[in-house]
Amino acid sequence: VQRPIYLDHHATTPLDPRVLEAMLPYLREEFGNAASRTHEYGWRAEAAVEQAREEIAAAIGAREPREIVFTSGATESDNLALKGLLRARRERARELVISALEHPAVADTAEALGAEGFAVRKLPVDGGGLVDPAALGESLVDGTGLVSVIWAQSEIGVVQPVAELARRCRERGVPFHSDAAQAVGKLPVDVERDGIDLLSFSAHKLYGPKGIGALYVRRGRPALRLEPLLHGGGHEWGLRSGSLPVMLIVGFAAALRIALAEREAEAERLAALRELLLRRLRERLGGVALNGDPLRRLPGNLNLSIEGVPGDALVAGCPGLALSTGSACASARPEPSPVLRALGLPAERVREGFRIGLGRGTGEAEVLRAAEQIAAAAERLGAERVVSPPPGRAASLPVSNPAGE
Ligand SMILES: Cc1ncc(COP(=O)(O)O)c(C=O)c1O
Repeated sequence: VQRPIYLDHHATTPLDPRVLEAMLPYLREEFGNAASRTHEYGWRAEAAVEQAREEIAAAIGAREPREIVFTSGATESDNLALKGLLRARRERARELVISALEHPAVADTAEALGAEGFAVRKLPVDGGGLVDPAALGESLVDGTGLVSVIWAQSEIGVVQPVAELARRCRERGVPFHSDAAQAVGKLPVDVERDGIDLLSFSAHKLYGPKGIGALYVRRGRPALRLEPLLHGGGHEWGLRSGSLPVMLIVGFAAALRIALAEREAEAERLAALRELLLRRLRERLGGVALNGDPLRRLPGNLNLSIEGVPGDALVAGCPGLALSTGSACASARPEPSPVLRALGLPAERVREGFRIGLGRGTGEAEVLRAAEQIAAAAERLGAERVVSPPPGRAASLPVSNPAGE
């Protein structure tokens, strides 16, 4: 049986076979606990962890390996960054600032901090999904404890001007965190150059294993103190207790090594495939609108609204394709995408939104088949809608991308 074509690489990516190879010894004979200091099993596990930590630190431009704290994934990293920092600065930090486009791992953590008494302020975005650095800078106050802005958005792929946002925060002495789960391995990320204080990322978004991620925590200039979420054996400098999953950490480093080596060529390849897919769809269909900034976006991302075709019906109507209407983590919630709503799009266009995530497994053949299946489903569903039009549907939606892409 042929499985659906996988076009949901923002949700997760398949494990690269080269990563599996690197992990295998640590699932077999190298089973030691990296914290065992009294024998060779422990020493070898620790050496593997520290080598991986060095590689991962270098890959994101960190100055020191100990700026990398291993976690279970970007969700935990986001929780540790936001809760850890604000709780440690409770006396001075009154306010947390996040963008209107945050993943639930940040947005819901912020809500929980709101219930603890911190004020949470959401930064608006423009119609393309971008945060304005000047407006951010002007809005910072003495009690602002932390600013968190997602690097590359997981639904619409929009890439924020993070270096500029971080600079505005630094000018006001406010720490800056970014959820870079969709960015690391796909975009040039350099925490020193870009002035980032805290950075969350995760292996399973870059063809590594699930269940491992990291939080980059800047050491010095200024010193950041975090309150841990987990207490126990004091691993990871007391920031994250628990025995380290050595095989996952080794896989994380291998995945990042491969992603960096192939990044530029892969970005170019995916961007070309993305343009081909959009062009094909527009040749077949009218009313195909691109959601989010057309230029500042992840190379493998398309978020589209096809006029008259609800996104969930379209996704269900393409059984040969693995597509989604939005974040896998938020898809248990039936409400329309808060990300598309934050762009100020009309309600119909929000309901029509769906996401395509191209990745390493996608070639031209897959893209052409996808375009064919989406177009056929849209024509069928659009025709059904014409038979019973919804009340009050406006005849003139913004059907094409004004930037002409
Ligand atoms: C931007 C962003 N942040 C956080 C997460 C959660 O990452 P993890 O599954 O590693 O906890 C995801 C993935 O769903 C994501 O896209």
